[in-house]
Amino acid sequence: MTPQATTAPPLLVLADIHKSYGQAAVLKGVDLSVAAGEVVCLIGPSGSGKTTLLRCVNYLEVPDQGSVVVDGELIGKYQRKDRYAPLPDRELAAQRRSIGMVFQHFNLFPHMNALDNVIEAPIGVRRSDRQVATAAALDLLNRVGLADKAHAYPRQLSGGQQQRVAIARALAMEPTLMLFDEPTSSLDPEIVGEVLDVMRGLAADGMTMLVATHEMSFAEDVADRVVFIDGGVVVESGAPAEVLRAATHERTRQFLARLNGPAASARSAANATGGRDDRVQTASTG
Ligand SMILES: Nc1ncnc2c1ncn2[C@@H]1O[C@H](COP(=O)(O)OP(=O)(O)OP(=O)(O)O)[C@@H](O)[C@H]1O
Ligand SMILES: [Mg+2]
Repeated sequence: MTPQATTAPPLLVLADIHKSYGQAAVLKGVDLSVAAGEVVCLIGPSGSGKTTLLRCVNYLEVPDQGSVVVDGELIGKYQRKDRYAPLPDRELAAQRRSIGMVFQHFNLFPHMNALDNVIEAPIGVRRSDRQVATAAALDLLNRVGLADKAHAYPRQLSGGQQQRVAIARALAMEPTLMLFDEPTSSLDPEIVGEVLDVMRGLAADGMTMLVATHEMSFAEDVADRVVFIDGGVVVESGAPAEVLRAATHERTRQFLARLNGPAASARSAANATGGRDDRVQTASTG
């Protein structure tokens, strides 16, 4: 963890988040904080609730119970006498502007070129001046390596390029927090790297990021903390080396073993039993 991240107050605090769909309880009391400037990778089996949790952060899903606080502000509801009431749509929309989200499937507007995708929200939602928004958007497209693709339409761009436009689009609203939901999982392996590089750059610039991912090498290199979620709760959380190489919980080890194949499974088991001293040294950062 960076020194900045250890001393900063939490930018995001999720407390006791519950969410069910019908009879199926997906989140069963998730507690998770992310410090300002911290990069947290969320890992867990398919169906464990990573997407649901990310969507609860910006109230695309309304938690059944629990609270979401971003930068000191309670999201999606307010206290009225002794109970909470949902925040009016306009106010929720205003809160969402400070939370950028990047989805697995890009979700660009197909009938708009890259530049128009990026300026759409600043102009339409934040009422920015078109010239100012355009200059900022071109800067952002440059930052994600797409200065020459400003006038290309999504169908003319590769998946990796579309995802980089989607990142620029989210950044255009100047978010204080960025959520990424498996941003590379629908990309061909050879273009995963270009998207991860952009995310690495964002992390290096101090962006606060919560990232659901199956890219363990990215988590290991870039995350300050890795959080393993399974069965609707946070099972384990800590420094990447600790969680990914010397997990405390059997469920975490099994998940990683399935992900990495038998060779990695044996290595992980050896680390878990043989690497205790090493693990204690790194544990204080979690
Ligand atoms: N809108 C919905 N209605 C009903 N069930 C849902 C809905 N959204 C998610 N679920 C269920 O909630 C559970 C958690 O789904 P979620 O998409 O959050 O998992 P995930 O960890 O993101 O999985 P993956 O790694 O495959 O993306 C799954 O069983 C899913 O079927
Ligand atoms: Mg998901």
